[in-house]
Amino acid sequence: MRKIGVFTSGGDSPGMNPCIRAVVRSGLHYGMQVVGIKHGYRGMIKGEFANMNARSVGNILQRGGTILKSSRSEEFRTVEGRKKAYENLKKHNIDGLVAIGGNGTFAGALALHQEYQIPVIGIPGTIDNDLHGTDFTLGFDTALDTVIDALDKIRDTADSHNRVFFVEVMGRDSGFIALISGLAGGAESILIPEMDDDVLNLIKTLNKALKRKKSSHIVMVAEGDEEGGAFQIADRVKREFRELDCRVVVLGHIQRGGSPSCNDRLLGTRLGVAAVEGLMRGEKNVMVGQIHNDVVYTPLTEAIKNSHKIDKNLFRLIDIMAK
Ligand code: F6P
Repeated sequence: MRKIGVFTSGGDSPGMNPCIRAVVRSGLHYGMQVVGIKHGYRGMIKGEFANMNARSVGNILQRGGTILKSSRSEEFRTVEGRKKAYENLKKHNIDGLVAIGGNGTFAGALALHQEYQIPVIGIPGTIDNDLHGTDFTLGFDTALDTVIDALDKIRDTADSHNRVFFVEVMGRDSGFIALISGLAGGAESILIPEMDDDVLNLIKTLNKALKRKKSSHIVMVAEGDEEGGAFQIADRVKREFRELDCRVVVLGHIQRGGSPSCNDRLLGTRLGVAAVEGLMRGEKNVMVGQIHNDVVYTPLTEAIKNSHKIDKNLFRLIDIMAK
C-alpha cells in the first residue's frame, strides 16, 4: 500500500474532520502518500484529487462538517459512472480507499470493489447511528448534545405557557437520536419507527399527564416514524385534545453541524488510524467500527445488510420517567 485515497460521502457529520485528519496523519506516519478526494463519489468521477500533507489537516480537529466536502452522486450508481471513477483512481495510482459515510457510501464502495478489486475500508460517519458493526457512528454523540441543548430551551418556554411541544429530529429509518436524546432531555413521549402504536401510547400518556396537571409536555418524533412527522402527529393530537396548546419544532440540519464532541473526536481518530492499519494488513471490503470499546472489522456486505438495533430495554424507561 503506497498511496491511499480518502473521501467523505452522504450526509456530513461532526467527527468527519477528526477522522480525515487521522487517516492523513497515520498514512503519512506509515510512509504512504495520501490523496483527498473532494465531494465524495462525484469528485471521484470528475477527478477532484488533492495530495494531502500533515498541514492540510491542521486546525480541523474541532471543526464540524467535512473539509473534503460531500455529495450524494446519482452517476456513481451507474456502471459507467463507476468506470470513470476507477479510471481516475488508476490514473492517480491509488492502491486503497478509506470511505467515510453511511449505508449508501458503503454500497458504492462495495460495488467499486466487486467490479475493480480495489481494497476499500469504510468508516461509519452519520449522525443517525443506524449502522451495524459499531456501537456508535461519527457525529451521533455531537448531534445528541445539540438536541438536548434545544430541548432544555424548549422546556423553558413550554413550561411558561403550559404547552405541548412536538419536536422532530433526524432519523430517516431509525429512532436512535429521538430515543436517546428524548430520555436524556426528559421528553414525556417518544415516537420512533422501531416502536408500534406510538400515537395510541401518546394519547394515553397525554391523558395521564392532564390528570396529573403536568405543566408542559415534550413529544419527540423521529422524522422516519411510521405515523408521520411532527406536524402530522400534532394534528392528530389536536383533534383528540382540543384544549391543548400545541407547538411544533423541526430541528432539521442544525443537528448535522457544530464542533465535534470529545467522544466524536476520539472515535474519528481511533477509526481513522484503524482503517489505515487495516489496509496495511490487507483488510478489504470491511467497515471498521467500535464495539464494547474494541476496534472491530465487519464485512461491508454484513454492514449493509443488517441494521443497528435499538436496545428495547430503553423503551420502558420512557413511561417510568414520564410521571
Ligand atoms: O445523515 C442522515 C440524515 O441525517 C437523515 O437522518 C436525514 O433524513 C438525512 O440525512 C437528510 O439529508 P439531506 O438533507 O442531506 O438529504
